Amino acid sequence: MPPAIGLAAHVRRRGAALLPLVVLVIPLLVLLRLVSSPPRSPSVPLRGTGGEPQRACNYAAGEWAPDASAGSRLRYDQTCKEIFKGWNCLANGKRNGRELLHWRWKPAGCDLPRLDPHRFLERHRNTSIGFVGDSLNRNMFVSLVCMLREASGEVRKWRPAGADHGFKFLRYNLTLAYHRTNLLVHYGRWSASPNGGPLESLGYRQGYRVDVDIPDQTWAEAPSFHDVLIFNTGHWWWAPSKFDPVQSPMLFFEKGMPVIPPLLPPAGLDLALKHMIIFVNKAMRPNGVKFFRTQSPRHFEGGDWNESGSCQRDHPLSSEEVEDFFALENNSTNIEARLVNHHLMMALEKSTFKVLNITRMSEFRADAHPSTTGGKKHDDCMHWCLPGPTDTWNDLLAANLVAIES
Ligand SMILES: *[C@@H]1O[C@H](CO)[C@@H](O)[C@H](O)[C@H]1NC(C)=O
Ligand SMILES: *[C@@H]1O[C@H](CO)[C@@H](O)[C@H](O)[C@H]1NC(C)=O
Ligand SMILES: *[C@@H]1O[C@H](CO)[C@@H](O)[C@H](O)[C@H]1NC(C)=O
Ligand SMILES: *[C@@H]1O[C@H](CO)[C@@H](O)[C@H](O)[C@H]1NC(C)=O
Ligand SMILES: *[C@@H]1O[C@H](CO)[C@@H](O)[C@H](O)[C@H]1NC(C)=O
Ligand SMILES: *[C@@H]1O[C@H](CO)[C@@H](O)[C@H](O)[C@H]1NC(C)=O
Repeated sequence: MPPAIGLAAHVRRRGAALLPLVVLVIPLLVLLRLVSSPPRSPSVPLRGTGGEPQRACNYAAGEWAPDASAGSRLRYDQTCKEIFKGWNCLANGKRNGRELLHWRWKPAGCDLPRLDPHRFLERHRNTSIGFVGDSLNRNMFVSLVCMLREASGEVRKWRPAGADHGFKFLRYNLTLAYHRTNLLVHYGRWSASPNGGPLESLGYRQGYRVDVDIPDQTWAEAPSFHDVLIFNTGHWWWAPSKFDPVQSPMLFFEKGMPVIPPLLPPAGLDLALKHMIIFVNKAMRPNGVKFFRTQSPRHFEGGDWNESGSCQRDHPLSSEEVEDFFALENNSTNIEARLVNHHLMMALEKSTFKVLNITRMSEFRADAHPSTTGGKKHDDCMHWCLPGPTDTWNDLLAANLVAIES
């Protein structure tokens, strides 16, 4: 009964919601036609009927357009208590902390509506939304919490089983929670047993044991608890260089036994994704909605994080610069997002997960990391300033939820 409540309520409300939508959307479309010059051929043709055009659009491809008005109406500011210190670019005095908010994501051929916190809360009464993943998913979680707090301050800390952080918006009975996990699957240190074994006989002495078929206990109960889940897996935990292949290789286990011959990380990732998709499908409550978020790109320039790499730009990259940065042929520091995405796409293709494709829009935003103000020994060109681009990720989430529920 409970899982369906939120969604059913939306369906009931749909009739009432449609009228204002039509009233708003039609003049907007007319306006857009007038403003957009020269006319570009949109990737998906707009249809003039009803509320459909937004659904057909590919929000993932587009460009960042200057939006002078955005800066004067911040979605939230540095006073939002949930912002992790190192990500609070406004409070930390990042040079362009405010300017980086003067951009709006403009998908080719349509608009991505800005998340309206009042409507979001209203739509998701009696609902529970869980973010499952690494610190980049926490970044997105905090963004949503801060946006919604602007509309409703009556919030109580509340953590469902295994969650790292969680809040309930009391007036709406909406729960948001963050479940921390890097690889999705369970992993821990491994060292050779004196009694020997298959890995020992191949010469392995130490590393990380990664159980591809066991979900991290931090989120194992999340699919039966939440109505909506947003997954990601380690933005760079699966990067070729993260686990030293000699000193601390990833050693994959399935059904409690080492996989022999040992797999390289990309093959281990495929196996882990396969098992986790099966697990979530079985464990998810009826009518639950599952999203998988694509990889968040890094923007280290002039070296990797431990090689004095930095991200000092004041503007988003141009599309040419994006290609230079992330082209697989460039073999650059920041390559893992597209590499891992390739595996994600293969695993998710035939699944019932919705893909939140935030990679391309984020690849432009070399200007929006905490950089030197992240409070670390090295520059933080990996996480995002809050407020910042992850607010737009949540716009994408909200738009997808509207599309699913209507
Ligand atoms: C994400 O969207 C971009 C732009 O449309 C596309 O190039 C890329 O292949 C997509 N990635 C995934 C994993 O779907
Ligand atoms: C809050 O929402 C949950 C479903 O997420 C539901 O089971 C519960 O009855 C609701 N509580 C109140 C007081 O509305
Ligand atoms: C939320 O749950 C409460 C108690 O279960 C119920 O009275 C209310 O109608 C529900 N609201 C929606 C929008 O489903
Ligand atoms: C920096 O770290 C990467 C792994 O993240 C490693 O491949 C590289 O060798 C390191 N560079 C130095 C100078 O230690
Ligand atoms: C490779 O990427 C770096 C940024 O990481 C960029 O500065 C450089 O111009 C790129 N090189 C090529 C050949 O595209
Ligand atoms: C990329 O770098 C790796 C090692 O850092 C090297 O083995 C490979 O040949 C390089 N590829 C290209 C296209 O430069």
